[in-house]
Amino acid sequence: MPILDGKAIAEQMRQQIAADVEALVQKTGVRPGLAAVLVGDNPASQTYVRMKQRACEAVGIHSVLHEIPADVDQATLESLIQKLNADQTIHGILVQLPLPKHLDEQRILDLVRIEKDVDGFHPLNMGHLAMKGREPLFMPATPAGCMVLLEKAGVKFSGANAVVIGRSNIVGLPAALMLLKRDATVTIVHSRTPEPSSIVRQADIVIAAAGRAAMVKADWIKHGAVVIDVGTNRVDDPTAKRGYRLVGDVDFEAVKDKALITPVPGGVGPMTITMLLSNTLKAAQYSVAR
Ligand code: GUN
Repeated sequence: MPILDGKAIAEQMRQQIAADVEALVQKTGVRPGLAAVLVGDNPASQTYVRMKQRACEAVGIHSVLHEIPADVDQATLESLIQKLNADQTIHGILVQLPLPKHLDEQRILDLVRIEKDVDGFHPLNMGHLAMKGREPLFMPATPAGCMVLLEKAGVKFSGANAVVIGRSNIVGLPAALMLLKRDATVTIVHSRTPEPSSIVRQADIVIAAAGRAAMVKADWIKHGAVVIDVGTNRVDDPTAKRGYRLVGDVDFEAVKDKALITPVPGGVGPMTITMLLSNTLKAAQYSVAR
């Protein structure tokens, strides 16, 4: 089966975003601006934030990085968020997660103005996503990217059997809510689910976001299913330049012959960043329309 090439789809979308950014600048003089807040020195978070910044620059979005020491206190971080909320040149605020344990992540995310909540993590945006007949201003980038990939694969959502593996606030839960909004029959399996394989085997659509390398085996997957692999797990590999390689939550080599599947890397990752760019553009467009 052909693979579902997130990199190519993301590239096409970024060209359109770049054109829309320039059109907004020409029409209004407003250039979209994204502030990234990176607390501490988690290497994976540093890499993600750097990739997001580069992607912003490539489409003409102004990006500002706030690198904050790991021992920052709650009040200092809160006042930075307040400052960014008030900054007219900043349309989107991204607080890279996870935050160090001593910080109250919930209070920080609650503080981000919902009009600038380009990660879609504010409980009001998440609540609107959960409710019938309501629409959030922004949807979390990773599951939104998964939905675009499923659309590009030509998936019919209505009545489809969709299984989400994992229930995180960042991916699993919002992914399930998005599938439900599109009228799929949705099941979430998680670490306390007995025999997840028997449930996943029924699925027409699988979104795997458990964070466990190659946990989904070929015999979990129905022939002809569409499988979106959100996992980016580092596994030791002495032959690799960095000493590790990235693998998904799905046993790609074994599954690719029976299902349409996204690769890792080159599947969901580029789409996540693209959806963040799209949300930041949308935030800037809202700001001039208000
Ligand atoms: N940590 C892991 N994924 C994400 C994401 O999509 N956004 C932010 N802010 N932090 C993350």
